[in-house]
Amino acid sequence: MNRAAVLAGLGTWLPENVVTNDELARRLDTSDEWIRTRTGIRQRHVIGPGQSTGDLAVEAGRRALKSAGTDQADMVMVATSTPDRPCPATAPDVASRLGLTGVPAFDIAAVCTGFVYALGMAAAVIGSGTAGSVLVIGADTFSTILDPEDRTTRAVFGDGAGAVLLRPGDPGEPGALGGLDLGSDGSRSELIEVPAGGSRQKASGRSAEETGAYFTMQGRAVFSEAVRRMATSVETAADRLDWAPGDIDRVVLHQANARILAAVADRMGLPADRFVSNIGRVGNTVAASIPLALADGVIEGALRPGQRVVLGGFGGGLTWGAMGLRWPDISPV
Ligand code: COA
Repeated sequence: MNRAAVLAGLGTWLPENVVTNDELARRLDTSDEWIRTRTGIRQRHVIGPGQSTGDLAVEAGRRALKSAGTDQADMVMVATSTPDRPCPATAPDVASRLGLTGVPAFDIAAVCTGFVYALGMAAAVIGSGTAGSVLVIGADTFSTILDPEDRTTRAVFGDGAGAVLLRPGDPGEPGALGGLDLGSDGSRSELIEVPAGGSRQKASGRSAEETGAYFTMQGRAVFSEAVRRMATSVETAADRLDWAPGDIDRVVLHQANARILAAVADRMGLPADRFVSNIGRVGNTVAASIPLALADGVIEGALRPGQRVVLGGFGGGLTWGAMGLRWPDISPV
């Protein structure tokens, strides 16, 4: 019998510290009006001194386990592009802090598509019987790699973490993941990058600005790629589940920009209110974005058991991906 990965628990965590648009405008040449109208973002959460991506991942992971009513998982994946250190991966430390020392644990780096990539890999691992339950965490702290003087990226990104526990189950049951579509185009990697800090260009010895260790993004080009790739990927995933686009009850996309969500809805010919959005409250939280939107979708009543839901992401790499499920009866913690 085919085994599916079934969504059994959902947990999220945001750092306490909130930075509003007005606070940004006090330090940078921007305004609440510009940020709200161009992105839909009103505020973002940002870690404080001493906090790290791993700290957020542990809190979200703990809550996903609690939501699933367990303290066990057979594997831990952390999707992140802002690991605690370049080496080793963040996931083994997160697993140990969750009381899961001994299980396989590793990071997945696909920037804003990281959570969808990790879900896809977890579904394959569960489907093959390699592991039973998998804890998939998306966590990022882009505040640690942004140029403090860059008004565009500072306006867009926020920190956060979200996690799901996947268990083995039947492909026909609510919560079973299916229709996976993943893709990449490395020829356009320069559109979203941190140039230095890896083996191609070291970042040591000089300031981040001099060495190119800050995050850079070509906003316009990213915008149009994001719309095209996410619309196509969501349609592909739906098609693999034998759903017509109009059958999709809710689309939960990576929250990059409210205008990107509206443009994807337009391109797919779907009403905008089928697209779950919490970007106003959290900004673009990279790998944490989709699980944070899922939790807010449930809390606000937009996501209800039985609905046909497609998740879709797009990010640096370039990378993109989507997959679908019938929404299960779960309570986020
Ligand atoms: N406040 C005020 N003005 C700003 C600003 C800010 N925070 N950021 C940029 N601007 C200015 C620019 O300098 C530019 O000024 P100019 O016309 O005098 O040169 C003007 O606004 C337009 O800039 P542009 O970059 O063309 O704006 P935009 O409408 O494309 O919005 C983004 C910028 C970043 C919000 C938008 O391109 C976007 O969301 N892109 C996708 C980002 C994304 O999804 N990234 C993650 C991928 S997963």
